[in-house]
Amino acid sequence: MAGRLDGKTAVITGGGNGIGRACAERFSAEGANILIADLLTDPGNAAAEAINSSGGSARFVEFDASSQEANEAMAAAAVEHFGGIDVVVTAAGISDGDYRSGDIESQLKRMAKAGEAAANNPAAPLIELDIDNWRRVLDVNLTGTLLSIRAAATVMLDQGRPGSIVTIASIAARDPLWGSPSYPVSKAGVWMLTKNAARTLAPLGIRVNSIGPGFIETNMTEAMVSVDEYHQRVLDNTPMGRRGTPAEIANVALFLASDEASYVTGELIHPDGGWFTG
Ligand SMILES: NC(=O)c1ccc[n+]([C@@H]2O[C@H](COP(=O)([O-])OP(=O)(O)OC[C@H]3O[C@@H](n4cnc5c(N)ncnc54)[C@H](O)[C@@H]3O)[C@@H](O)[C@H]2O)c1
Repeated sequence: MAGRLDGKTAVITGGGNGIGRACAERFSAEGANILIADLLTDPGNAAAEAINSSGGSARFVEFDASSQEANEAMAAAAVEHFGGIDVVVTAAGISDGDYRSGDIESQLKRMAKAGEAAANNPAAPLIELDIDNWRRVLDVNLTGTLLSIRAAATVMLDQGRPGSIVTIASIAARDPLWGSPSYPVSKAGVWMLTKNAARTLAPLGIRVNSIGPGFIETNMTEAMVSVDEYHQRVLDNTPMGRRGTPAEIANVALFLASDEASYVTGELIHPDGGWFTG
C-alpha cells in the first residue's frame, strides 16, 4: 500500500544516516516531501539526492539539533520549500559526547579506553564520567528533541492542520544498559518529554509518540558489534537473536506518522526483537 503520506511534508532530523535515512526513504515512497536535517553535509546531501533520483522530493539542510536557531531555521526551510510541516521524526542522536556517525575507529578507541577504566575501577563509568561529555549527550539527544518538537509544533499550530511528531528514544529509556549513564538518561528524558508534549498538544490536533528501538544495524552499533563480547551480550538479550534493520524502525515510524495511528498519542513503542519480554 503506497501513498499513506501523500501530499504531506516530513522533516527528518538525523536523516543523513541509519534510522533517520530509512524513515526519509520510506516516507518518500509513501508520497511525502522530505526535509533532511543533519549535522553531516555529505551523508545528508547523499540521502536527499538518493530520494530525488528515485522520483521523490527531498532537500537537505545542515543543522545542529542542539541549537535553537538551527531548529528554527530547519522549520523555516520546510515552510519555504514545501509550504509547511505535517510530520517530524527526531532521529538526530549520539551515543556519547564524542560520537560522530561513521567514525568507527574513534568509537573503538573510546570503547577500549572505557573498558580499561572500568577494569581498573568498576565505578569508573559513574565516578569518572566527563561532565562536558554528559552535557553534550543531553544537549543533542534531549534538549535537541525538545527544540525540534517546539520548532515543528509552532509551524503545525500556525498552519492549523493536524500533525504527527515521532521521537526516537531507545530501549535505554527503560533499561540502564551498561556503562555511562548519559545515553540512558537522555533517552528516558525523551520518553517523558514525549508524554508531556503529547498531553499538551493532543487538544490542539498534534500527536506525539516515541519509538524505542533495540540494537539496530547502523553506524551507532557497528563498533560495538565488532567486539565479540559486546555483540554476544546484545544477542543474548535479544530473543530474536539479531539486530534490527533501519527499515524495521521506519515501518513503525510510518505507522505513527500516518493517519492509521489517529488515536495514538503519548506512546513508546519498542521494536526491539523481544528485549522487553523479561
Ligand atoms: N542504532 C541503534 O541501535 C539505536 C537504538 C536505539 C535508539 N537509537 C537512536 O536512533 C537515532 C538514530 O541513530 P542511528 O542508529 O541511526 O545512528 P546514525 O549514527 O546512523 O545516525 C544518526 C544521525 O544523526 C546525526 N546527528 C548526530 N548529532 C547530530 C546533531 N547534533 N544535529 C543533527 N544531526 C545529528 C548524525 O550525523 C547521523 O546522520 C539516535 O537518536 C539513536 O540514539 C539507535
